[in-house]
Amino acid sequence: MFSARPAAKLNLTLEVGEGGPDGFHELRSIFMRIGLSDRLSLGPGKAGSDRLVVSGLPGCPTDGNLVLRAVTLLREGVRQPLSPLDIELEKRIPIAAGLAGGSSDGAAALELAAACWGIGLAPDEKLALAATLGSDVPFFGSAAHAALIEGRGELVTPLPGIEGKVGLLLATPPVSISTAAAFARHDDLGRPAAGDARLTDELAAAFRAGLDGQALLGWATRLQAANDLWPAAVQLVPALATLRDALEDRTQRPWLLSGSGSTLFAFYPSANDAAADGAILATGRSADLDGAMLHATDLDGPDPEWRHP
Ligand code: C5P
Repeated sequence: MFSARPAAKLNLTLEVGEGGPDGFHELRSIFMRIGLSDRLSLGPGKAGSDRLVVSGLPGCPTDGNLVLRAVTLLREGVRQPLSPLDIELEKRIPIAAGLAGGSSDGAAALELAAACWGIGLAPDEKLALAATLGSDVPFFGSAAHAALIEGRGELVTPLPGIEGKVGLLLATPPVSISTAAAFARHDDLGRPAAGDARLTDELAAAFRAGLDGQALLGWATRLQAANDLWPAAVQLVPALATLRDALEDRTQRPWLLSGSGSTLFAFYPSANDAAADGAILATGRSADLDGAMLHATDLDGPDPEWRHP
């Protein structure tokens, strides 16, 4: 069996430019890989075709899953018979929640299937396959812990990883937001810019100069205004604004939206600190937090992660 832990990402900034004729928007974003991860394993199968079994969090489809699409795409590009695969995917990353779990699973499936079949992929071949699968996939195909993302997502400029520790508390309300719907609503709203358009460049420069975890905490308030999709996400799910207010009130920290949502997150000095606040939120739950799933993690993944429920 070949195994991987496909990680989630957070968007620390997200500038959305104009939509092109292909329906995709120009992006400028800082992506950061985090410890919260799925579990993927695969090996030669006994059935006549690829078989995917999904466990863990509910709501992850097998039909059209990026894992199967990745395997199919790779097989189509190779002119030799390749064995069917038995694939197991355990979902721990909330689905359609702005964390790109599906994209990360797809990138990992490409790697694992290539290894299982003994196919050597050149970096440019891997990038092309990843970009075909989806805009967020090339980031995960790179080994980068953090990166400046441009184009529609396929232009990945790796940044040095964060030095030292960062704790993260994630709150995912029980509502998914389709990425396509969020981008469409952003256009309908006249493409509002959230805030300071220089933040992506400033933060990228800070990463290059050597950003440590404690310094990242100091960026949180400014980064709160660095996601252009926040107005669209709140229009689609008004409860998101109430949830953010409640989280900020209860934790006295700035909370940020990842991607098109629906996950909100806050920085902490360590995963333990994040888990401690998560436990307080989970015990005295106000109506505003009802149903939100909480995860405490860090950059590399404490195992087991703290999660509620
Ligand atoms: O590439 P991916 O499948 O993740 O994109 C999902 C949808 O999000 C696209 O069909 C498009 O509507 C929207 N999108 C966009 N601009 C991007 C990335 C995604 O408009 N750069």
